[in-house]
Amino acid sequence: MTTPRILVLATGGTIAGQAGDAMRADYRPGQIGIETYLEQASVLGIAAEFTGRQIANIGSEDIDASIWSRLHAEIDLAMRDDSVDAVIVTHGTDTAEETAFLLDLTLPSNKPVVLVGAMRPADAVGYDGMRNFANAARVAGNAEAAGRGVLVVMGDRVHSARDVRKAETRATEAFRGFPRESVGIVTPSRLDWFGAPWRLDDAASLRFLPLPEVPILAIYAGMSAAAASRQLSDDSAGIVVSGVGEGNMPDPVRQVLVQHARRGALVVRASRTDQGLVDPVPDDVEDGFVAARALGPPKARVLTALLVANGISDPAKAQRYFDER
Ligand code: SIN
Repeated sequence: MTTPRILVLATGGTIAGQAGDAMRADYRPGQIGIETYLEQASVLGIAAEFTGRQIANIGSEDIDASIWSRLHAEIDLAMRDDSVDAVIVTHGTDTAEETAFLLDLTLPSNKPVVLVGAMRPADAVGYDGMRNFANAARVAGNAEAAGRGVLVVMGDRVHSARDVRKAETRATEAFRGFPRESVGIVTPSRLDWFGAPWRLDDAASLRFLPLPEVPILAIYAGMSAAAASRQLSDDSAGIVVSGVGEGNMPDPVRQVLVQHARRGALVVRASRTDQGLVDPVPDDVEDGFVAARALGPPKARVLTALLVANGISDPAKAQRYFDER
């Protein structure tokens, strides 16, 4: 087997973070540059050839359209470059699920693309970033990782971008998947897939285009129509509802959203619960709403914005993209 050539695109996050003192509780993400990081990783003896490129060095709460655009362009190029076998993106964990899903929807799956992060900064006791990186390299270097879309490797698990979410603020096993908890289990020395690759047609679902602003409306008990209206502008092309239970909302709020759907906004009902399906109901047809199915509000927002950018605002057509697995 030949040594895999892996392009590492660094964006910052805790995996590149430092506190300056192992005993400190606070730290700054995005402190270590990719060259230094790869030099440190070289002592692990990972069987791969790495090339590093710094895309950003930020906390992932500051990820923005220009960083997404650069990441997408670099990976798209790598997909067609015979000198690159796979791509690893180092990323803050806070918004890793959104970046992973955006890339998943807009890139082909002919080579492995793996996002990896850490929950503890590089100089913390029990830094998890090197283990996660070694795991990510094992996944990226495995030919069977292609055809599974963008993958997120954290805490010895391989998650698919569509399923994964950050579910805890501090634990090193902070990520969960729904409906598939994970698609593989990995350590630096071994990788086991649960099932075969599923993205066999190799095509991206949607074109990567500048994304419109799509707000998430957080529903709560007793929310009034006025409170909902104050948070929504009349020109947003899409709205994601972080509804209660199965994407529900008080009736006065529903009526506000129906008005937005009638003016052409793509209105998507998701759930504020931890996980579960929000399925279409008969009223959705009349209201002009779409059901987010297994996607939680942050990822429903990414898909809604991308659909609008691609000119897909018809609820029935949009629903198909939420139904996909
Ligand atoms: C971030 O998302 O950049 C900070 C938190 C982390 O990486 O775990």
